[in-house]
Amino acid sequence: MENRYGTLASWVYDLDKPIGRSFGDIEFYAQRLRDCRGPILEPAVGNGRVLLPLLQEGLEVLGFDASEEMLERCDAHARHLGLSPSLSRQRFESFAYEQRFAAIVVPAGSFQLITDFAQARAVLRRFREHLLADGRLILDLDPCGALIRNEGGIRSWMVSDDEWLTLTEQPLETDFVNQTRHSYLRYEHWRQGRLVSAELERFSLRWWGVAEFELLLRQEGFGDIRVFADYQPDQAPTKDSGMIGFEARRFA
Ligand SMILES: C[S@@+](CC[C@H](N)C(=O)[O-])C[C@H]1O[C@@H](n2cnc3c(N)ncnc32)[C@H](O)[C@@H]1O
Repeated sequence: MENRYGTLASWVYDLDKPIGRSFGDIEFYAQRLRDCRGPILEPAVGNGRVLLPLLQEGLEVLGFDASEEMLERCDAHARHLGLSPSLSRQRFESFAYEQRFAAIVVPAGSFQLITDFAQARAVLRRFREHLLADGRLILDLDPCGALIRNEGGIRSWMVSDDEWLTLTEQPLETDFVNQTRHSYLRYEHWRQGRLVSAELERFSLRWWGVAEFELLLRQEGFGDIRVFADYQPDQAPTKDSGMIGFEARRFA
């Protein structure tokens, strides 16, 4: 299965992107949601890096994720902070709630984990169905260049003096027709120079053109679309931009 985020991947995520680690995105989402009246949904909530600070801001945020291990980490962090968010194990492709949301937020480029165009379109439709009239979808995407240049490599994180985790990315294929990039992620846990465990995950992402994504949002019943660069509310994307943010309102 692709994009699994298993035991070691979740551990690495927690070390690399702990709760509150911001790339400017947490402040951006908090600012966009400040006047939000009603519940907010964060699909692909992960370890709660974004959800937990938003809860601390007094917002009502629910989350779901496909990975049990990620949800366990999110739950543990929440308890530690004295918070008890509603979390569930669901997938982009099939999630369902009886309630409707004032906003749906998808930070960290997680929408790109949906690699099939038709599936992505169906997910946008599902997002729309789960929004209140006038509700907003806010998400961010990596620019194409960041995904196309996939050179792989190895990174490591110390757990203690003699214990560490490594992540080796081995690029497999870049598919320019389907706008997807595929690689193997090999996670390893080492203690005193010995391998304790290893996990291999196939990891795939899709890149989107800015105009392409805007058109798809319009086609799926969104309007009042704003596009931001690098989490700056007054900055439009240029060829040198980093993350590209979209905010769109549900049209009736
Ligand atoms: C990059 S992390 C983002 C975590 C968090 N939103 C953040 O901003 O730090 C991506 C998350 O997407 C989840 N995920 C991957 N495929 C998914 C799917 N099909 N449905 C729901 N969640 C998925 C992974 O388990 C992982 O927790």
